[in-house]
Amino acid sequence: MSVKHTQDHVFQTYMRQGRPFIKGEGTRLTDDQGKAFTDFLAGIAVCNLGHCHPAVTRAISDQAKTLVHVSNLFYTNPQADLAKALTEKSFADRVFFANSGAEANEAAIKLARRYFQRKGEKSRYRIITMTQSFHGRTMATLTATGQDKIKDGFYPLLEGFSHVPFNDIEALRSAVDDTVCAVMMEPVQGEGGVIPAAPDYLAQVRQLCDDTGTLLIFDEIQTGMGRCGTLFAHQAYDVAPDIMTLAKALANGIPIGAMLATQDAASGFDYGSHATTFGGTPLATAAALEVLSIISAPEFLDNVVKTGDYFRTQLRSLKEKYPKVKEIRGKGLLIGMELNTNSGLSAGDFVGECFKKGFIINGIQDKVLRFAPPLIIEKQEIDNLVAVLDSLLSGEDH
Ligand SMILES: Cc1ncc(COP(=O)(O)O)c(C=O)c1O
Repeated sequence: MSVKHTQDHVFQTYMRQGRPFIKGEGTRLTDDQGKAFTDFLAGIAVCNLGHCHPAVTRAISDQAKTLVHVSNLFYTNPQADLAKALTEKSFADRVFFANSGAEANEAAIKLARRYFQRKGEKSRYRIITMTQSFHGRTMATLTATGQDKIKDGFYPLLEGFSHVPFNDIEALRSAVDDTVCAVMMEPVQGEGGVIPAAPDYLAQVRQLCDDTGTLLIFDEIQTGMGRCGTLFAHQAYDVAPDIMTLAKALANGIPIGAMLATQDAASGFDYGSHATTFGGTPLATAAALEVLSIISAPEFLDNVVKTGDYFRTQLRSLKEKYPKVKEIRGKGLLIGMELNTNSGLSAGDFVGECFKKGFIINGIQDKVLRFAPPLIIEKQEIDNLVAVLDSLLSGEDH
C-alpha cells in the first residue's frame, strides 16, 4: 500500500523507483518483496558509513533513552562535544547547528551579509556563486544555485546574487568588487555533474578573496565527511575557507546541518541574530559525534582514497572499451561517468537497468552517472557493478 498511499497523499515532487525499502544494512537495501540491492548512492551521499552502522545506531538509541531535545536556551553535552570536535578537525573556531544543507547555507549567506553590515559596509552584500552549482531549495539557496531549472516558477528571487563559470579564475576576478561580501562554491560540484575544482583553482580563489577582503564559503554538504577521501574535500587542495557548510553525511542519516566559521567571520552573528528550534539536538549531535570519530580516522580515509582510485580505474577501462563513455571524474568516492551525447544513451537508461539488476546508482544532468556509495563499499561490489555497466554498454542488455 505504501506506493499507492505515497502517490495519492504525498506531494508529487519526487520521481521514485521500485518498491518500498524496509531494511538497510551496510551497503545493502532490501525491499518489501525481499529483493536485495547494492547501494551505490547512500541516500544521496548521506549514509557514508553504510545503513544502520552498529556504532551509530548504538549512539542514537543510547541518546534517545537519555535526552532528545531541550532547545538552544540550554547547554547540552553532545552539542558542545561535537562543536569542539569539528573545530579541532577543521580550520574553524565556531559552529552553528542547523537541520539540513539548505539551512546551513542559508546561515552562511546571512552571516556573510551581516559580517559586513556590522562593520558599516552596507553596500557590500552581493554573493558570487558558480554556474552549475547547487546550494539548496530555500529562496536564498535556490537564488545562489547556478542552475535555471531550480529557479523555475519562483521569481522574483533575492537581490544580490550572480554566477560565474566554475574553474575560471578570470571570470571570478572580474566579478569581485567592493559590493561583494562572499564567494560561495562547492570544492567538487556534485549535482552539477561531479566536477572537481581544478588543482590550482581553489588557491587562486583564496588569494583573490584575501586580496579583496571577501569571505570565502565552501559548501561541503555533499563533499564533506570523508566522501572525497579527506575529511573535508578542501583539505586535499590545501586551502581553507572562512565559512564551511556541512549536512548530509554528518550524522549518517539523522537530519543535521552545520555552518562552521573562523572567529573573525563568526563575529557577524551575535545574540539573537540567527536561530532554529531543532539545531544541534542531543540526538542528532550524539549521532554525528560517533560518525565524525569513525570517519576522521586516517586509516578510514586512506581506504576511501584507495577504493575511489580502484573504482575510477575500473570505470576508465570501460571508457577505453566504449566510445559511448566520454569521461570518468571525481574525487574519493564521489564519482561521475559522463556519457557521450551522441551515444543514444541517457543516464536514466542506466539507472533503470542497474536497478532491475539490483544496483542503485543515480543520474544527473541527463548524461552523467553519479556514484556515491557508502564509504565502506568493497572491491567485489564495485566489480559486480562494473560488470553490469559493461554489459549495458556492450548493448547485450538492451
Ligand atoms: C552541495 C549541496 N549543497 C546544498 C544541498 C542542499 O542540502 P539539503 O537537501 O539537505 O537542503 C545539497 C543537496 O544535495 C548539496 O549537494
